[in-house]
Amino acid sequence: ESYDMGGHDTYMHKEIAEQADAVDRVLRGRIDDRFATVHLGGLNLDAREARTMRRVKILGCGSAYHAGMIGAQLIEELARIPADAEPASEFRYRNAVVDPDTLYIAVSQSGETYDTLAAVQELKRKGARVLGVVNVVGSAIARETDGGVYVHAGPEVCVVSTKCFTNTAVAFGLLALHLGRIRDLSVADGKRIIAGLRKLPDQIAEVLRAEGEIEKLAADYAQAKSMMFVGRVRGYPVAREASLKLKEVSYIHAEAYPASELKHGPLALIEPAVPTVAILPDDDLLDKNRATLEEIKARSGRILAVAHQEQEKADHTIVVPRNEVELDPILMGIPLQLLAYHTALALGRDIDKPRNLAKSVTVE
Ligand code: G6P
Repeated sequence: ESYDMGGHDTYMHKEIAEQADAVDRVLRGRIDDRFATVHLGGLNLDAREARTMRRVKILGCGSAYHAGMIGAQLIEELARIPADAEPASEFRYRNAVVDPDTLYIAVSQSGETYDTLAAVQELKRKGARVLGVVNVVGSAIARETDGGVYVHAGPEVCVVSTKCFTNTAVAFGLLALHLGRIRDLSVADGKRIIAGLRKLPDQIAEVLRAEGEIEKLAADYAQAKSMMFVGRVRGYPVAREASLKLKEVSYIHAEAYPASELKHGPLALIEPAVPTVAILPDDDLLDKNRATLEEIKARSGRILAVAHQEQEKADHTIVVPRNEVELDPILMGIPLQLLAYHTALALGRDIDKPRNLAKSVTVE
């Protein structure tokens, strides 16, 4: 992959289109079928440390933070280690307790974001173990961390992150599988996740083939005054990232909420001019999510669902292929990148360089 536009009108479109290849690259050479695990050459974390750590804390900004949220869920699900993600800027300013039994992970496309770098430096000064999940090889965060996983998304030029976000989530899938197999994840589950990871490139290509349908929807959603994005657990980070993406490129106001919190406030905003995008993976929360669609419909809200099958209560459903439930967030975000892109295009926005934003924020 190169800086050549390769027939695309924008880098954002090019980078969305490259995702099947990019995911193939982050997986390549890392899967170990014999032990149903993965090899992460630069991780620099031995099995004893992987077994004895008590928590994982993931730090990043913007889309990197959202990819970290998916990462935290994957680590909790596959490795059963308590994990959470926090904006690096919040972490560095709140005088957080630095715990010797916690593994800290800094996430960054550029590896140069100042807030994330400053959080790493503060952690290192206090003797913490810090790894990086970084795209740019040899970047400041890659150098200052003790080791980590390269994301191998290739160069990302558009200010808003698409392929690097997806690849970072996949890199966390690898890391979670690795930690899980050192701890208590069974061989059978390891094999199941590996099979799921291997399916991703073809499934991404399949999702991207729905672009024409999403383009039509975007012409309609471009008229929205504001948009809500909701999801539960695995769907929630997807909602967060999709909402950010839409805001960044289209300048339409958008809010993301856990679907379960809708009734505690944001339901008051629902009306025909404020459509909702709902993420409904086919997991044990599907019924709860369907009830949310009913709550929205009862307030005359329009709904776009991203799901594994048509949703009766939704005005439109974008159907994505099924994978393993743990990996669902990776695929479900991709059609919403296209939604943000085509909405911005319909509104004539400067897609690769949205106003007021920079690709990497290297100052405080
Ligand atoms: C900027 C960009 C975002 C990006 C964030 C973190 O705000 O506009 O798209 O997600 O920085 O960047 P990083 O390079 O650390 O992933």
